[in-house]
Amino acid sequence: MAGKRGRFITFEGIDGCGKTTQLEMLAERLRALNMPVTRAREPGGTAVGDAIRSILLDSATVRLAPVAEVLLYFASRAQNVDEIIAPALESGRVVLCDRFVDASAAYQGAGRGLGWELIENLERIACRGVKPHLTFILDIEPATSISRALERNRDAAGAGAADESRFEREGLEFFSRVRGAYLEIAAREPGRVVVIDGERSRQAVQEDVWRHVRRLLEIS
Ligand code: TYD
Repeated sequence: MAGKRGRFITFEGIDGCGKTTQLEMLAERLRALNMPVTRAREPGGTAVGDAIRSILLDSATVRLAPVAEVLLYFASRAQNVDEIIAPALESGRVVLCDRFVDASAAYQGAGRGLGWELIENLERIACRGVKPHLTFILDIEPATSISRALERNRDAAGAGAADESRFEREGLEFFSRVRGAYLEIAAREPGRVVVIDGERSRQAVQEDVWRHVRRLLEIS
């Protein structure tokens, strides 16, 4: 990522893999060391992105064409890059992002069967050279994904939170395809992507995350 001073770290994995928890734990650890941290999330994270997020994730959204879906994810991403991620990297901050292009490759490219080439073309247009230095894929079984997601939706419904269950209605086969694509991305780009077993305790997962982040940020 030429010309950018900061460091860009992304967290990926199928639904319920624990990436948001890990991202928060890492952010806290870095802040405790006085590192300048910016958090980002996808889809969403900006006013435009949050509006797009509600279209994408609401279970009331029906008959969304796969190409329309991928364009909405990339519209949210383009806004995120422009408004938050690129400026933060330019000012030397550590950007932690909950999902990025790999999620579109896995969910839309493989899950929806749109293929890699479309994703690569959209990445060129939307991200303009902004690419993660380090990506964690928290790997869990599709069955774990579904049971964690159901549990979370029950808790969210109890708390009156927004319904974001559209993807969680997908079955085991869909999540197996998405997981397979993530593992393929990791095999293709071993210098950037680290696969971590997400079936373990959050502390054990965080220790693995921390080892790689320390190396990237040269923290002694
Ligand atoms: P996210 O908010 O990360 O939800 P969770 O924390 O439950 O994983 O992502 C919401 C959903 O959007 C999730 O099912 C994955 C999907 N998604 C895509 O399909 N493509 C994308 O490019 C992104 C960023 C997310």
